[in-house]
Amino acid sequence: MATAEVGDDVWREDPTVKALERTVAERFGKAAALLVPSGTMANQIALMVYCRPGDEVLLAPGSHCIAYEGGAAAALAGVQPREIGDAQMLFGGADLRRALRPANIHYPPTRLVWLENSHNRAGGAVFDLDAIDEICAVARSAELTVHLDGARILNAAIALDRPVDALVEHVDSTSLCLSKGLGAPVGSVLIGSAAFIESARRYRKMLGGAMRQSGILAAAGLYALAHNVERLRDDHAHARLLAAAIDRAEGLTLRNPQGRTNIVLFDVVEGDAADFVERCAGAGLLISAVGDQTLRAVTHLDVDRNACLRAAETLCRVAGQQS
Ligand SMILES: Cc1ncc(COP(=O)(O)O)c(C=O)c1O
Repeated sequence: MATAEVGDDVWREDPTVKALERTVAERFGKAAALLVPSGTMANQIALMVYCRPGDEVLLAPGSHCIAYEGGAAAALAGVQPREIGDAQMLFGGADLRRALRPANIHYPPTRLVWLENSHNRAGGAVFDLDAIDEICAVARSAELTVHLDGARILNAAIALDRPVDALVEHVDSTSLCLSKGLGAPVGSVLIGSAAFIESARRYRKMLGGAMRQSGILAAAGLYALAHNVERLRDDHAHARLLAAAIDRAEGLTLRNPQGRTNIVLFDVVEGDAADFVERCAGAGLLISAVGDQTLRAVTHLDVDRNACLRAAETLCRVAGQQS
């Protein structure tokens, strides 16, 4: 990062940003890419490119763009979300087909189908290739656009053992977070057609996300893509280890035993999650509450196998004191 060659990216003069955008676009099999400061901005820009206020977006329950972005989808993009799918918080082509409605002035015009892969709130659940392709086929037959929130798309690709371009082949556009499992300090990338990225560039400017010498951030992104992708497998293995310990622990219930990526969701059987978080923090373990009784733990490159074993031991001890 310290030696990155930089220029003014607002004027498209930063060679390192351009190299990152080219690298990501090629890897994802799309025409163009755009560095933005955060996953939230990537999501909101995608909504703004495709939708006008009042347009409907079909998406899985608990999708990050509506559940965890401070109300931006309503306040900035002005979209009306409709959740579709099952108790596992995913949906398939048949769910999408059922959700389609004939044109009628009483309904908001459906504009966009939104995927999130892996799905954060569903415990890092993965839409597999067949599901994505079927959803895209149904969307295409209804002349709907498909955007995929790919904050953790490389986790999904690793879990499915497929190259990432295969996972996004049929979606119109997608994104990638550099600052989650990949370990870079800042940044997300939007990826799609040249026209999508050109429009996204204007919304990025509107939102104040166009940066100057951002090559220092892009350099970290290039490093992460070169060094930190295959090792996502370790994060997944560590999450399974943590999940197995939680499954055995008295006083805790594992919510996503079928989890394949780096997120573990679990419930405290008695008491509330906020209290459990506090007692874990007192014992040196940081986790977050995502519901009254539900907690979420995420593995990443700063937490090795030994740290996960210690975390598992702490969780079991704190839960034991509770029950
Ligand atoms: C699926 C998903 N999309 C988008 C985001 C937003 O990313 P950021 O925190 O960089 O704004 C997150 C953050 O956790 C996420 O899980």
